[in-house]
Amino acid sequence: MMMTTNYLVIGSGVAGLTFSIKIAEKFPDREVIIITKSDEEESNTKYAQGGVAVVLDTQSDSFEKHIKDTLIAGDGLCDEGVVKMVVEEGPKRLKELLLWGANFDVDGSGDFDLGKEGGHSEYRVVHHKDITGYEIERALLKCVHQLPNITILSHHFAIDLVTNHHIKNVKSDTISCYGAYVLDQKTGHIFTIKANSTLLASGGVGCVYGHTTNPKIATGDGIAMAYRAKAKIKDMEFIQFHPTALYEAKGESSFLISEAVRGFGAYLRNKNGYRFMPDYDARAELASRDIVSQSIDRELKKSGENHVYLDCTHLDIKDFKNHFPNIYEKCLEHHIDVAKDWIPVVPASHYLCGGIEVDKDGKTSVSNLFACGECTRTGLHGANRLASNSLLEALVYAHNIFRFHSSHEYGTLTIEIPDWNDEGTTIPEEHVLIQHNLKQLQALMRDYVGIVRSNKRLKRAIKHLELIYNEVEDLYRESKITTSLCELRNMVNVAHLIIGQSLERTENKGGYFNIDNVKK
Ligand code: FAD
Ligand code: SIN
Repeated sequence: MMMTTNYLVIGSGVAGLTFSIKIAEKFPDREVIIITKSDEEESNTKYAQGGVAVVLDTQSDSFEKHIKDTLIAGDGLCDEGVVKMVVEEGPKRLKELLLWGANFDVDGSGDFDLGKEGGHSEYRVVHHKDITGYEIERALLKCVHQLPNITILSHHFAIDLVTNHHIKNVKSDTISCYGAYVLDQKTGHIFTIKANSTLLASGGVGCVYGHTTNPKIATGDGIAMAYRAKAKIKDMEFIQFHPTALYEAKGESSFLISEAVRGFGAYLRNKNGYRFMPDYDARAELASRDIVSQSIDRELKKSGENHVYLDCTHLDIKDFKNHFPNIYEKCLEHHIDVAKDWIPVVPASHYLCGGIEVDKDGKTSVSNLFACGECTRTGLHGANRLASNSLLEALVYAHNIFRFHSSHEYGTLTIEIPDWNDEGTTIPEEHVLIQHNLKQLQALMRDYVGIVRSNKRLKRAIKHLELIYNEVEDLYRESKITTSLCELRNMVNVAHLIIGQSLERTENKGGYFNIDNVKK
């Protein structure tokens, strides 16, 4: 089976939905297909807490200050032109979100109630309680449902991009993308979606580490697909570990305690009650997250403990409940009353600063292939993303990609794409092998490729990964395609990129710390 569309969008988070709405509104005669591998709202976007960083109060804040904060957090590796562009576009993109029906908190005078997070010199984070992402996703999906030229196919998994190498009679030095092979996860049927333009908006890679704030969908599929299609992938060594995920002795699910809680005045303490952050940085708990995570890691190594604490007991709890109702409730579920108890917290993998390299129009190095959101490397984040700059980046780049498409015509696609070939793949998936390899991969990434790295551990990680890679490739060749098998294969590809690019980095920057790079 083959479907044809003008625009194929892979992913239904803030990046994919924003682009889809803009292009569908502007060109009612053109078709957009969004495919998404879970329920339509399931995404990292849905779980965003803190908010969107944007300069609105020009009396106390300015573009210059936001730009400076972003550059400092990025530790010298940001693209300054990109930072300036994104920060200055922020207010316009936020206005659009409001027009699409997203609600953000206001204070008693009707002005936005702005929050503050690590690395920000001013209050500039627009939020909806502590469930900002949920509200944005809700508003965007509502708009998508009202546009008749958008089809959203949930529980559809993109297996691979269709490029020149799938098509016999296309001879060209340029690699082009013609759509994707897609698995209908409910029927198991694999079909082709042929598209003039394909947008990867497939999110991050948190699940490569077992311990992550990300939901289960964050398996780096888009980055792995782009890598296999030979697109340029950059800055994969810059995994951002969020300092304060709720510590759970048994579970691996890591509920986030928003950085906005520290912005609200919470303190980090070790088990003796000592407030350690002022020893590491003059900004104390509000240093950027690379510094806070690395400081916690040092405290834990000193004490041999497995978590530190976030102390909110000195704060106005009524106000706390009003700002962070979801966090308050979640803590109660874990028998933690934030009015009296310290919250046990530990860093967890949270965000990927690198990804598929794109220019300011969201173009990848593969022709007709665009990328937006967390799967990309735009140059905004450098070595460490400033808190709440991710939703902003996705909104700005979705607009830029829309603008590019508005001024570029595509002819009809005449090429013949062969159907997906699964000849010889007879055995059903071996679920136990997939689970076993996944656990091994996650343990390897946690133990050898975590907050503090070393060349010895990275080299060991490469060796172990090779064994997992060989097993997974064998399984992939022999088995019927399933989502969990494809996700595992993608995570192995992503782990290879993270470890390989880590070994290439000889200078510690931002979120990357290798003990062998410390100058003696
Ligand atoms: P996502 O929102 O992750 O969407 C990716 C989509 O792609 C999903 O729909 C997924 O199902 C789909 N997909 C993936 N692979 C495939 C495939 N193979 N086939 C089909 N579909 C696929 N950022 C901020 O700026 N402010 C915050 O306050 C903030 N808080 C956060 C809190 C948490 C707990 C987390 C996890 C992240 C937070 N972030 C925050 C980061 C931010 O939420 C994400 O970076 C951003 O939402 C990513 O948006 P996206 O559209 O690129 O990807
Ligand atoms: C948070 O609320 O702490 C997350 C913010 C972000 O990841 O930008």
